[in-house]
Amino acid sequence: MSAVLHGVGVGPGAPDLLTLRAAALLREVPVVAAPRRAEGEDSLALRIARDAVGEVPGQETLLLTFPMSRDAQVRRAAREAAAAEVGARLASGRSVAFVTEGDPLVYSTFLDLLAESRRAFPEARVDVVPGVSSLTAVAAAALVPLADGDGRLAVIPAPTALGELGELAREFETVLLLKAGGVLPDLRAALAREGLLDRAVLVSGATTVGEQVTRDLASVQGRTGYFSTVLLTRAPEGRR
Ligand SMILES: C[S@@+](CC[C@H](N)C(=O)[O-])C[C@H]1O[C@@H](n2cnc3c(N)ncnc32)[C@H](O)[C@@H]1O
Repeated sequence: MSAVLHGVGVGPGAPDLLTLRAAALLREVPVVAAPRRAEGEDSLALRIARDAVGEVPGQETLLLTFPMSRDAQVRRAAREAAAAEVGARLASGRSVAFVTEGDPLVYSTFLDLLAESRRAFPEARVDVVPGVSSLTAVAAAALVPLADGDGRLAVIPAPTALGELGELAREFETVLLLKAGGVLPDLRAALAREGLLDRAVLVSGATTVGEQVTRDLASVQGRTGYFSTVLLTRAPEGRR
C-alpha cells in the first residue's frame, strides 16, 4: 500500500506556529482528517490548519469523533470507527493527514489511531510531522525555563497529580500540570496545602488571542478552560 497516514502537529494555536513541513503536506495531501469531541462540534486542530493553510480545492475533510467519555467501550468504539474511516481512504490509495493540536505524540487523539493502525491498516506506512507542543508554548508564555543543567522536568495530567504535588515539586525542578482547567479549585487547594502557590503559574490559551498568564493563582475563582496548564517552578525568586 503506497498511501500514508501522517500524524501532523499543527501547534498550540497560533497559525504561524504551524511548521513549514506541516503546511507543505497539508497543501498536497488528498485527505485531511481532524478530531472533534462530539458530532456537530468544531475541530480546533482543523481550525488552526485552515488558518495557516486555507481551504485546498479538491481535498476531502474527514471529521472524526473522539468523545471524552469515561466509558472505555464508548472510547474504543469511536477509535475503531475512526480507524475504519481512515483505513478506507488508505485502501483506496489516498494518503491521510490527521491533524492534532500541539504535537501528535503528546497526549493526542492521534495516539488512538496509531494504536489501531496495526489492526485496521497494517500495510500502510505511518509517519509523524512534529508540532510545537503546548509544553514549550506554555513555558514561552510564562517566560519560565522548562529545564536547565541537571534539572529534571515532569509532565503530568493535573487530575492524576492532586495527591502528590509536594513529592513532585521536591523531585523535579519543573512540573507541568496539563488538563488543569477542570480541576483548578482542587489544584489550587492542594498547592496551598503544600505551600506551593507562589511557585505556580497558570497559562491558558498560550499563543492564541485569548492567552492568559496568571501568577497569582489564589486570585482565580472556579475552573478555567480546557486549554489550561499550570507550571510549577522550583524557585519563585528565579522568575522574572
Ligand atoms: C490532550 S492535551 C494535548 C497536548 C498537545 N498534543 C500538545 O502537544 O500540546 C490537552 C492539554 O494540553 C494543554 N494545552 C494545549 N494547548 C494549550 C495552550 N494553547 N495553552 C495552554 N495549555 C494548552 C492543556 O493542559 C490541555 O488540557
